[in-house]
Amino acid sequence: MDDTRKGGERERALNRAHEIATAFLESLPERPVGPRATFGELVGALGGPLPESGDEPASVVDALARAVDPGLIASAGPRYFGFVIGGSVPAALAADWLTATWDQNAALNAASPAAAAVEAVAAEWVKELLGLPKGAAVGFVTGCQMANFSGLLAGRHAVLSRAGWDVEKQGLQGAPEVHVVIGEEAHATVLSALRLLGLGESRAIRVAADAQGRMIPEALEAALGPLQGPILVAAQAGNVSTGAFDPLEEIAGITRAKGAWLHVDGAFGLWAATDPSRRALLRGADQADSWATDAHKWLNVPYDSGIVVVKEPAHLSAAITKSAAYLIRSENAARDNHDFTPESSRRARGFAIWAAIRSLGRSGIGTMVERCCNLAVRMAERLRAGGVTILNDVVLNQVLVRFTPPRGGDADAFTRAVVARIQSGGVLWASGTKRHGVDALRISVSNWSTSEADIDRSAEAILAAIQAEGQA
Ligand SMILES: Cc1ncc(COP(=O)(O)O)c(C=O)c1O
Repeated sequence: MDDTRKGGERERALNRAHEIATAFLESLPERPVGPRATFGELVGALGGPLPESGDEPASVVDALARAVDPGLIASAGPRYFGFVIGGSVPAALAADWLTATWDQNAALNAASPAAAAVEAVAAEWVKELLGLPKGAAVGFVTGCQMANFSGLLAGRHAVLSRAGWDVEKQGLQGAPEVHVVIGEEAHATVLSALRLLGLGESRAIRVAADAQGRMIPEALEAALGPLQGPILVAAQAGNVSTGAFDPLEEIAGITRAKGAWLHVDGAFGLWAATDPSRRALLRGADQADSWATDAHKWLNVPYDSGIVVVKEPAHLSAAITKSAAYLIRSENAARDNHDFTPESSRRARGFAIWAAIRSLGRSGIGTMVERCCNLAVRMAERLRAGGVTILNDVVLNQVLVRFTPPRGGDADAFTRAVVARIQSGGVLWASGTKRHGVDALRISVSNWSTSEADIDRSAEAILAAIQAEGQA
């Protein structure tokens, strides 16, 4: 194959990908939000025997897009309210395309000075946006799961080294016990972080939370009271169901008095710092020792993009720094990204984060966050006016609702049935949950492109689903 032919093939494949991408993005406002094929159908469309010989790249791109299209969710679009899933602002999406094109290994300055520099700059911008200490270390990881792991990893190092134990060299066997204290409604990824850290999910002391899911400070104080030695406390900014914030200022005071490490899981809630009207929810957050958040949620950059921030950089680097003769260390204060994340070789996530921040600016990010929160309030008002029970105080972008059967009966079963109707209707997508023993629908407004019209149309579709189910 000569070079001209390779170039021609590449150009055809990239042009085809561009056409398909553009058509997909243009279809987002109107395509059914949920899937149109089952897992089995998709595997059938993609599967077949292992290809013995290759196909022309453009036809491979075509075949892939054709096979997966019915299984693509319009989660990048304006009426996807499932989980907490942001879309991708145009500059971040374009930068992400370039990230794949440039194919930089972001681990080392020697492997990509561009990837090192962009993360150095994005790190400073992120800290300023989120109101976190200037001197903190910032690592760009896959998502908040890894950010929670990394923050607690730094904490594990810090509390054990204060107790005279070198956990990196000696491991946990024979180490002083590390007490872990978390809220009753800590996110599932905090629990899996504890598993990965060898600290044990079930050993964590759970602190009672109020009806909104906020850790109760007096209960934290009581839980910490008898504990001696190394302690990690994980608090939360932004409950995944209610959007509620733990009272971080009080928690920080109590934790500090005990000499414990405070980690804050702020997967989406930390972005409230960019909205002046909601910043107060985070009062005291800057007093923590480590923070975890996502860029792929509320900053609206493509997956995968989480961020860990550690106030005292030495604790993060002691926990993760790796070395080998061939891993060239940078000189002249350049950044080696692998000093800040548990990963080694990886995608250069900083380009898309830089592009999102550069294109929106501080005010644009704040406006996006504020708009999502106001739209969540609008959704709650529309639904409440239609007789729906709103289960949470809508302080951020999350709305938790429950449906009552018009002629009496099992509200849990009715709620589940309405959720199924909403999901299959295609106008919007949101998912069910069970909270405090009752079924509910979670609505998360996290996408830059969602408008008031999208909220009104979605609220109407929800009310129509309730009516249809009531008559079924
Ligand atoms: C509070 C909280 N923490 C952690 C996570 C996990 O984030 P990720 O899925 O990016 O790992 C989420 C995801 O919704 C979350 O809401």
